[in-house]
Amino acid sequence: MTAKQMLAQRARSVEEYLSQCLEERGIPARLLESMRYSLLAGGKRLRPVLALSWCELLGGDAEAAMPFAASLECIHTYSLIHDDLPAMDDDDLRRGRPSNHKQFDEATAILAGDGLLTEAFVLMTEAGVKGGLAADRVLRAVNVLGRAAGSGGMVGGQAVDMEFTGREGQVPLEELQQMHAMKTGALITAACECGAILSGAPDEDVRNAREYGRAVGVAFQIVDDVLDVVGDEATLGKPVGSDEEQGKSTYPALVGLDKSRELARGHVDGAVGHLCGYHGPESEFLTLLARYIVDRVY
Ligand code: IPE
Ligand code: IPE
Ligand code: MG
Ligand code: MG
Ligand code: MG
Repeated sequence: MTAKQMLAQRARSVEEYLSQCLEERGIPARLLESMRYSLLAGGKRLRPVLALSWCELLGGDAEAAMPFAASLECIHTYSLIHDDLPAMDDDDLRRGRPSNHKQFDEATAILAGDGLLTEAFVLMTEAGVKGGLAADRVLRAVNVLGRAAGSGGMVGGQAVDMEFTGREGQVPLEELQQMHAMKTGALITAACECGAILSGAPDEDVRNAREYGRAVGVAFQIVDDVLDVVGDEATLGKPVGSDEEQGKSTYPALVGLDKSRELARGHVDGAVGHLCGYHGPESEFLTLLARYIVDRVY
């Protein structure tokens, strides 16, 4: 099986959980419809799969970690809904469908994002509240994910992205890398780190998970930038050429496509290095997945 097929297979069990995770919450019908519209529109489910795989690799109970993994996808989906808004990237296509604000309206899209972010905290704590995972592990993971998704992480990175818009090709590489590490890397890093924390593994393993995530996260956003130039809209399910149109600061705009790919490959090599102490199918999967991130077309 290829890494892409393995990812898709694991994504299916996440999908199943996501499809029922917003039930019986008393969410008003139209708001629920718009939350589910974006959450269940497909997507690679990379972040939950990473969390579950790190948990499994380190001998944890991946089944018990599923609600926590689902919370990562809720936060990610909220970030996509808000990222597409006219005030941000102003994109009309997401996951192969009209963006949330196009299908519904801007107010609904803003609230669907708010709703998904907040429901994520219910899901994060679910395993601890209902039993299954030790409360101290859950508490630590919530703290890590809260920081990563917040103003010093993903939200902060999005703010820097907006500041850098209109300065394409002028932002120094280190600052661009820092922005990528925040807006995209932070959540991917937290996914790996939280999976490790929930497994109850020692700090050294948690550190390996974090460093793997850091490297994969930056590589993932570099490739996202590359695909915005060379990708296929139907395959990606989102607009191509949007970054140039918006004057976004991206790797291809600064260093070109070949150098961008080369840098992404370098980060992935670094990521794989953090797996050298592990063996077996999960370690193999995480290695193949990291490599796939550079070669992906979706
Ligand atoms: C897109 O993320 C936005 C970024 C942070 C780069 P993904 O490429 O993981 O999007 P989905 O979840 O598969 O739709
Ligand atoms: C998005 O970066 C990062 C997020 C936190 C959503 P992009 O703006 O490049 O993501 P896409 O290309 O719209 O998916
Ligand atoms: Mg953006
Ligand atoms: Mg965008
Ligand atoms: Mg992009």
